[in-house]
Amino acid sequence: MPQEVRGVVAMTKGAPVTLETVVVPDPGAGEALVAIQACGVCHTDLHYREGGINDDFPFLLGHEAAGVVEAIGAGVTGLEPGDYVILNWRAVCGGCRACRRGQPWYCFATRNAQQRMTLADGVALSPALGIGAFVAKTLVAAGQCTKVDPRVPPEVAGLLGCGVMAGLGAALNTGSVSRGDSVAVFGCGGVGDAAIAGARLAGATTIIGVDVDERKLGWAREFGATETINSRERDPVEAIRAFTGGHGADVVIDAVGRPETYLQAFYARDLAGTVVLVGVPTPDMQLTLPLLDVFGRGGALKSSWYGDCLPSRDFPLLVELYLQGRLPLDRFVSEQIGLGDVEAAFDKMHRGEVLRSVVVM
Ligand SMILES: NC(=O)c1ccc[n+]([C@@H]2O[C@H](COP(=O)([O-])OP(=O)(O)OC[C@H]3O[C@@H](n4cnc5c(N)ncnc54)[C@H](O)[C@@H]3O)[C@@H](O)[C@H]2O)c1
Ligand SMILES: [Zn+2]
Ligand SMILES: [Zn+2]
Repeated sequence: MPQEVRGVVAMTKGAPVTLETVVVPDPGAGEALVAIQACGVCHTDLHYREGGINDDFPFLLGHEAAGVVEAIGAGVTGLEPGDYVILNWRAVCGGCRACRRGQPWYCFATRNAQQRMTLADGVALSPALGIGAFVAKTLVAAGQCTKVDPRVPPEVAGLLGCGVMAGLGAALNTGSVSRGDSVAVFGCGGVGDAAIAGARLAGATTIIGVDVDERKLGWAREFGATETINSRERDPVEAIRAFTGGHGADVVIDAVGRPETYLQAFYARDLAGTVVLVGVPTPDMQLTLPLLDVFGRGGALKSSWYGDCLPSRDFPLLVELYLQGRLPLDRFVSEQIGLGDVEAAFDKMHRGEVLRSVVVM
């Protein structure tokens, strides 16, 4: 029997989100029904609401979630009702050309539920990142569920499902930060601070946080930034060079995703260094760079989809580091809110008052 629950929906471009009745089908073949316990508010949810991702309104928002499997469909193995899981938005297929050549974190055919959740009038919802978790129950592909140690509280665990994983992975996986590296991170929100925490975990010795907001820079220091730069007050490229012996950083991570921050990241990098773009641009944005500088500065310009993570490998590992007290994931949780408070959480995100507001069911 399909179930009716309340969920946070973006009905039209730019309009405030509303609480709507969501009809959730029973899980079909390869699907799982998950009772959501907590879901973080990510900047990507706001991008969806503003039409910055695509125009497939209405969107069921929310995608940084943890919960308990309630039911599984036919053919699902390795997952049972009662399992405590973090949801991921890149369930690898195992058969595409990326998976076949042993790079499943690039999977080009990631899986989502086949059936659609709908509004009460039958209109199909587009779940954010194929999840849609600002809702009591959601329907996903079974591969989107990664079992983790139930000792990690859901409001913390859920964050690994998107922004925190993206930031940690931008440093650890995409940027391959290693001992003694210098790292600069543009944008010290949830994603950028996770990149800073990842750089510290990897043994970087100089970690520079850049933001336009002093409060964010204070938090960046708590996550491990050894230097901070307010780019409203100082040219960040010059300041990063000054902190790195005049050279620039080995790895520069753009966790904002705007042409101006990308250009700054590009020139704040040492010769043969790496730029990692983890912030998500909008379709209107363009970048112009002297091609000779792209060649002459060498190194690597990389994008980080979901921190190049492999949920089955990375989620349990990061949970373990958290439980050992080596990864301060709870510091990302600025406040716990209810389902009706998501629009207010967007405002707080806009004003820079929070790292993560987390909806707790
Ligand atoms: N690649 C991925 O898989 C992935 C996953 C999750 C989120 N994201 C993206 O990462 C980005 C950051 O997400 P978030 O949740 O941390 O957002 P956030 O709003 O919490 O943080 C963004 C930060 O950037 C700062 N900022 C804005 N303009 C700036 C500028 N010109 N220079 C320096 N700092 C500036 C803001 O003050 C803020 O602290 C978003 O674009 C989001 O969509 C990407
Ligand atoms: Zn694949
Ligand atoms: Zn997200």
